[in-house]
Amino acid sequence: MSSRKGIVLAGGSGTRLYPITHSLSKQLLPLYDKPMIYYPLSVLMLAGLREIAIITTPADQDQFRRLLHDGSQWNMSFTYVTQPRPEGLAQAYVLTEEFLGGAASTMVLGDNIFFGHGLPELLRSAAGRAEGGTVFGYRVSDPERYGVVDFDAEGRVLSIEEKPEKPRSNFAVTGIYVLDGSAPARAAKVRPSPRGELEITELLNSYRAEGLLNVERMGRGYAWLDTGTHASLLEAGNFVRTIEDRQNLKMGCPEEIAFAQGWISADELRALAAPYLKTEYGRYLVRVADGA
Ligand code: DAU
Repeated sequence: MSSRKGIVLAGGSGTRLYPITHSLSKQLLPLYDKPMIYYPLSVLMLAGLREIAIITTPADQDQFRRLLHDGSQWNMSFTYVTQPRPEGLAQAYVLTEEFLGGAASTMVLGDNIFFGHGLPELLRSAAGRAEGGTVFGYRVSDPERYGVVDFDAEGRVLSIEEKPEKPRSNFAVTGIYVLDGSAPARAAKVRPSPRGELEITELLNSYRAEGLLNVERMGRGYAWLDTGTHASLLEAGNFVRTIEDRQNLKMGCPEEIAFAQGWISADELRALAAPYLKTEYGRYLVRVADGA
């Protein structure tokens, strides 16, 4: 069986952040000191995934390429896939069927920001399941804004509903989906919802109907940050700044993770830092390379 691959879904119209996203993809907006996509990409890297598909709108693809190249600078491999229109999250699996080639995958939404001790272990343990899918439930005060998962004491999923008026639980489904190799075939069977989208909840329900959907609770020790409004975007940036200043460590720094994973050497990391030396980001990379 081929090894698990990663997907970052970074398309969408970004209309809720207009006018900022009128001519710039939401997932390229700054979150304090780096582009937003660095954070979800880092999550996949921490989970050990090196082969990643990046799904963008046709108009934005060049900018993502300019930022992330083909991944070889971090000893990774990026495949760019375009989504012509934002026709739903489940479409990601239709679009990446060829890229996946039957492999299992972990998908992260390009605007989802996670922080917390033990995240790589959480993802790796979900990825260890040979069959089925795993999503993560996170307690929120406003579940009606998200996919909502209801589950029993054993963690068996009872229902998953997209933005229900009357949520059956306070647990939102976060934007990380750990699915087996059957996801593209299942996604192909999903029909557009009344709002015209291939809903991720439909795809997840196809796993659930066969008893193949697990939910893991992402506990209160994790931060799952919202970037959906102007205010929450600013708050998320401030969160990153607070953590980074306090610890003198960076959050969501792909170069550092590639080095920590042993994918690039200290000299390669120094070379990557060279164009950035006017910034704290570049100086940080040098410190990491020096082991300081
Ligand atoms: O953030 C977690 C939530 O994400 C889940 O709880 C929901 O179940 C899931 O449907 C989704 O809800 P959102 O309302 O946040 O979805 P949104 O349409 O904002 O899309 C999420 C991201 O995916 C956003 O960065 C844009 C991107 N996207 C979205 C669609 C519909 C695409 O790249 N292509 C698309 O077709």
